[in-house]
Amino acid sequence: MPKKAKSVFVCQECGFESPKWTGQCPVCRAWNSFVEENVTERDPDDVRRRGSASGADQRAGRSARAQRLPDIRSGQTTRMDTGIGELNRVLGGGLVKGSLTLISGEPGIGKSTIIIQAASHISRTAGPVLYVSGEESEEQIKMRADRVCSGDLSNLFVASETDIDAVIPLIDSIEPAFLVIDSIQTMFTEDLDSAPGSVSQVRACGNILMNIGKGRNIPVFIVAHVTKSGELAGPKIVEHMVDTVLHFSGERNQDLRILRANKNRFGTTSEIGAFEMREEGLAEVENLSASFLDGLGGSEDGAAATAVYEGTRPLMLEIQALTSTTTMGFPRRTAIGIDNSRLAMIVAVLEKKAGLNLVNRDIYVNVVGGLRPESTSADLAVALAIWSDEKKQRLPGELVIVGEVGLTGELRPVQNADKLIKEADRMGFRYMILPERSRERSREKTSGLRLIGAETVRDAIAAAEKLAGKVDR
Ligand SMILES: Nc1ncnc2c1ncn2[C@@H]1O[C@H](COP(=O)(O)OP(=O)(O)OP(=O)(O)O)[C@@H](O)[C@H]1O
Ligand SMILES: [Mg+2]
Ligand SMILES: [Zn+2]
Repeated sequence: MPKKAKSVFVCQECGFESPKWTGQCPVCRAWNSFVEENVTERDPDDVRRRGSASGADQRAGRSARAQRLPDIRSGQTTRMDTGIGELNRVLGGGLVKGSLTLISGEPGIGKSTIIIQAASHISRTAGPVLYVSGEESEEQIKMRADRVCSGDLSNLFVASETDIDAVIPLIDSIEPAFLVIDSIQTMFTEDLDSAPGSVSQVRACGNILMNIGKGRNIPVFIVAHVTKSGELAGPKIVEHMVDTVLHFSGERNQDLRILRANKNRFGTTSEIGAFEMREEGLAEVENLSASFLDGLGGSEDGAAATAVYEGTRPLMLEIQALTSTTTMGFPRRTAIGIDNSRLAMIVAVLEKKAGLNLVNRDIYVNVVGGLRPESTSADLAVALAIWSDEKKQRLPGELVIVGEVGLTGELRPVQNADKLIKEADRMGFRYMILPERSRERSREKTSGLRLIGAETVRDAIAAAEKLAGKVDR
């Protein structure tokens, strides 16, 4: 029974609650982020308890239970195959029972598509699947499923519903092996008066879903929307509750989609999954390097190929740089895909240690394909791309450049150098400029790739200059 109605102001950025309106949030410092939300509260514990199969015995008076570590069965994290290798990989080897996964991404990126593809596979192999959509009608979901799923779909249950409390009896009757909520922003509980998508609704629904997942050992996938301008408040709050946060990204007008874990309690966060959006759904991309190198071939000044190690596999990328005369004020330094301070450091090294004059030069650097490599092994390629554009020296398309740049201008060895060498060789590259120490240590037998060791950025530029001379202009 509703107990009392109260009105609070909730920061839509961080979820901080205040009894009165404030211009700036004292916690996250956001301006004008407070929105009045009417909260009709029941017994607050009741909201938290909902959905749990054993809700009744969680009342006051029940004592907590502790087990000795060796007595706990470790087989409890059995993993379910989603039928999508790239998704399994990002999850850390499949879907863990009772785990909560948040999948976020811009509108239209393919969240519902990847989930319905996984759901159809699980419904054939592990048991019934319940797909609850607050955004689309059953017919719309069916149309997508007909387009992107193959095989028997008779164990895939679909409900167009926004009332989270009405979903619980459905779970009781279907007993799904996998539950999907698309999306958290459309769901609401009647206990709260505030609108779906508001921080308090998202938090309450998140709590209920957590109890469903943990209480019944069902893996739950929760879709969350993210706006182009940044993240939305709601999902930020749920991020703390869930086990795994996946982010789906890509350029909507291009076909490549990258799935990555921002948080994962059951695996690393360095794995990426790659897909191509096709009419018949998301297809796994096996030769990832090829999709980031498309169009490369030293055709332009300022383009350089590099190799990075992402998660458990090597990946080849193109770096582009553009330099131009500063017309007003301070020179601009803009980086997309690499850290701005990393770029500033590389530019400083080019100036001080390699004799490039970049005062009054605007510098733009872009990692092609919208990827953000975490590894520093792309540093040297960034440096040489800037050098190439500045000096109008075209790098040959068969050249790949790896190495971390230190403040003194020295090149530090890269991790997993042998795997990068192997990938470059496999992709048909003919030259690799790399830190001398990585070259010395390498035991990789290459077929067509020649390794060119360099001690410093200056050495690397000299090596690149020799190769650039071989390019027809
Ligand atoms: N008939 C079609 N043929 C090919 N591709 C399609 C077709 N219909 C949709 N798509 C692709 O699917 C994308 C939409 O996928 P999906 O609905 O899974 O995205 P979403 O992330 O769930 O979006 P939303 O945020 O709107 O829920 C479209 O942007 C388009 O690229
Ligand atoms: Mg969708
Ligand atoms: Zn705040």
